[in-house]
Amino acid sequence: MAQTIVIFGASGDLTRRKLIPALYELARKGRLPPQTRVVGFSRTQYSDESWRHYLSETTQQFLGSKFTQAAWDQFAPWLFYQPGDITQADSFPALEERLSQLEGGEPTPRIYYLATAPEFYESAITHLGSFGMAKEEVALRRVVIEKPFGIDLASARRLNQSVHRVFAEHQVYRIDHYLGKETVQNLLVLRFANTIFEPIWNRNYIDHVQITAAEAVTVGSRGAYYESAGVLRDMFQNHLLQLLTLTAMEAPARFEADFIRDEKVKVLRAIPPMTPEEVAQATIRGQYRKYRDEPHVSPGSTTATFAAVRLHVENWRWKGVPFYLRSGKAMSCLTTQIVIQFREPPHMVFHSGPRSVQEANRLVIQIQPAEGIQLHFHTKVPDAGMQLRLTDLNFRFRDKFAGEIPDSYQRLLLDVMHGDASLFARADEVELAWGIIDPIAQAWEAGEPPLALYEAGEWGPPICAQWMKAQGRQWFDLCPVLP
Ligand code: BG6
Repeated sequence: MAQTIVIFGASGDLTRRKLIPALYELARKGRLPPQTRVVGFSRTQYSDESWRHYLSETTQQFLGSKFTQAAWDQFAPWLFYQPGDITQADSFPALEERLSQLEGGEPTPRIYYLATAPEFYESAITHLGSFGMAKEEVALRRVVIEKPFGIDLASARRLNQSVHRVFAEHQVYRIDHYLGKETVQNLLVLRFANTIFEPIWNRNYIDHVQITAAEAVTVGSRGAYYESAGVLRDMFQNHLLQLLTLTAMEAPARFEADFIRDEKVKVLRAIPPMTPEEVAQATIRGQYRKYRDEPHVSPGSTTATFAAVRLHVENWRWKGVPFYLRSGKAMSCLTTQIVIQFREPPHMVFHSGPRSVQEANRLVIQIQPAEGIQLHFHTKVPDAGMQLRLTDLNFRFRDKFAGEIPDSYQRLLLDVMHGDASLFARADEVELAWGIIDPIAQAWEAGEPPLALYEAGEWGPPICAQWMKAQGRQWFDLCPVLP
């Protein structure tokens, strides 16, 4: 079955870093239909040949030893380029003509991938609509929209309205690349393909949940984008809230897009938006020292590069269980992990005296880079009376499964081709997520809580650890051990 993938923003960073390497890998593994055409569209004046040549170099650079010339030579003839300006209506009939010519006039399913800067999404969608390029009468038409989907609730709503004027919701795939990660999907498998976790996955047994996405890298050359986004829009509205919904949701009746998304939406609905007073109490905002020296960053910038946020899911399962979300740049190490901290046994017979919740059972789900799961539990230390120690069962994907863990874009692109939207955000989901983030962003803009500075290479500002301690808890500041 033939198909055409049109990439808007073809000369951009995402195309060379993620999309083309993922499509090349899928082609190499024989997972793309034989009649696949990938058509790049942007203002840069490439020819088919010069675009192919440029991408062969960038793909090699990003894939390293996974790149082979022989596989590239098979893939390259599938790539085509059409120069054009996304803001100019007359670029679109020219694009349509080129696509129909490549498709030989045959009805061919098309995927329009918006890999442009977000300010061009509306223009692309409107023009696709005006020239009848979104109509599904003869063949399927799907549109993939990258993050950020809006910059707040109002803009996300407006974008959804523009999208829906042209595309029906079943044609729309809003990407959050975290959902394409194998370990994120495995969270659903862990919870719903095993019987042992679900009975204790609730307020009766769980004290709190910590979701951390720490990065050692600084903002670097992305200052212009980051100044307008900050950590809340860059990581919380999308990736961290997605991890929270998968951790907290009920089991869907079936593993199908709308069944799954209905359950995720219920979780987001159960998180009450915070008042400014609550934001002052329940969030920490930080900025690494030297952030203001980064290129394109204002010398007086108050953009947060670190945040910790305490959220509550107000339902029967989670009432009273805090979900702590934190993320930052320039932190100690790269790690994304979810920690489920269980409660203490109701009565401890082995020793008396005060104990902290950190000594109770803990399940650590390592999303990346040391993909795996550890279960911490008490064991009797041999030959030491009734001394106990927390030990762990340690599962590592790399120990049990051969081969590379594929980049999330491979899975997500395949899902779009197969029409499976399970791992994509629905319109209501994106808006609900903004509804949680907006009040925090607004309170921060008004100056509460104050911005706390931190040294690069630390776990955020020191006040963050104190804040947790004041709640009788402690962050798990663990850098994963890589083999
Ligand atoms: C992106 C953010 O969405 O996710 C980046 O814009 C961040 O700032 C990146 O670095 C993290 O993704 P990953 O897959 O490397 O964890």
